[in-house]
Amino acid sequence: MKKDKVNVGIIGFGVVGSGTAKVLLNNKNILKQRLGFELNLKKIADLDITTDRGIKIPEGVLTTDVNNIFNDPEIDIVVELIGGIRPAKDFILKALEKKKHVVTANKALLATEGTDIFNTAFEKGVEVGFEASVAGAIPIIKVMKEGLVANRIKAIYGIINGTSNYILTKMTYENMEFSDALKEAQKLGYAEADPTFDIEGIDTAHKITILATLSYGIPLSYNSVHIEGITKITAQDISFADELGYKVKLLAITKETDGEIELRVHPTMLPKDYLIAKVDGPFNAIYVDGDATGSTMYYGRGAGSVPTGSAVVSDIADIARNIQKDAIGRVPIIPRISGEAKIKKMDNISSRYYFRFSALDRPGVLSKISGILGNFDISIASVIQKGRRIGEEVPLVVLTHKAREKDVRQALEEIDKLHVVTNKTIYMRVEGEEET
Ligand code: HSE
Repeated sequence: MKKDKVNVGIIGFGVVGSGTAKVLLNNKNILKQRLGFELNLKKIADLDITTDRGIKIPEGVLTTDVNNIFNDPEIDIVVELIGGIRPAKDFILKALEKKKHVVTANKALLATEGTDIFNTAFEKGVEVGFEASVAGAIPIIKVMKEGLVANRIKAIYGIINGTSNYILTKMTYENMEFSDALKEAQKLGYAEADPTFDIEGIDTAHKITILATLSYGIPLSYNSVHIEGITKITAQDISFADELGYKVKLLAITKETDGEIELRVHPTMLPKDYLIAKVDGPFNAIYVDGDATGSTMYYGRGAGSVPTGSAVVSDIADIARNIQKDAIGRVPIIPRISGEAKIKKMDNISSRYYFRFSALDRPGVLSKISGILGNFDISIASVIQKGRRIGEEVPLVVLTHKAREKDVRQALEEIDKLHVVTNKTIYMRVEGEEET
């Protein structure tokens, strides 16, 4: 029977929890008008219920005891917004055991232990919404599950960590070094006090893991993602990239090649005129290439209290609609997972590459380096040497045609042993069409 309201309990009254409460309370009427019934915020549980979050919560809603949510038979949807693995996972499993639907923004938990959660939800006949787990306000989960359901996904390229994108943008436009840009991101609240997950690519890897499962029906494969962060990028490399017509972005990539799935996160040089290369500051964007749609792209805020709260509430609304129509599971939580994930070994991917050699400025050095590249079947597309400092170290920049990662690593290992090469070679993968 249709209820006049669907009750919601939120666990975690932090940044996203307070944003979710704001959206639910401030947009209560518009939600009621659109849904035809009320979404009622019945309880919010947090250990700290006294700090002002800039929103007036009705009397009796705040509690320090999470059991007030689990044990309330009127609460249909439990929203987990505390983040981390434990106790978040225990709370979610407890809610599912009690046949309550769950909404979560917890990408780290889903990417690493999501299988348990999804299996329990299937078993109990309840839903798990996770729109807010990838790219905040951008409704990419709905796009993958519904909008693009008719497509074979050829590739996804995502800028899905706002902190890293903000840092790289600062380095690009203000010629800042990484550590200064990070400090600024922390000052503005984009980066956390411990920014490891963001700058080391881990947060990005959690998100692309989820998108790969939605795209290819593979088991959640976080442990197979190749992850490189942005901590080794220098202002000098960004400036060389600029000179060559590229911008440097932390890109998450998943695509199907030769019957295998590529799953990788690394700094990538993108042609400046690509739409996704123009995504700057803390913004996110996801480019999805479907076999029927061709190129599509989704842009917006990937973080922030109220933007992420909007994604959480969209899941609450979807589940509440299904409750009212007795249509739980109409859109499955994730696609049917079939078999093992065949993740392509990083050694076997092929890409174009940027190399910055630190070499002595001496006759014959380039021919030594290019000889080794040639031995490994790596073909040079262009070379720049900056400055002239006879007998001293100079940066020597090389762009290659498509090469195999394994050959590149072996060649660089050999090159770095040359006595004319003074420092470890920096390399980045380059996207975009080859010039013909
Ligand atoms: N820390 C993330 C970012 C937002 O910087 O994009 C939450 O996923």
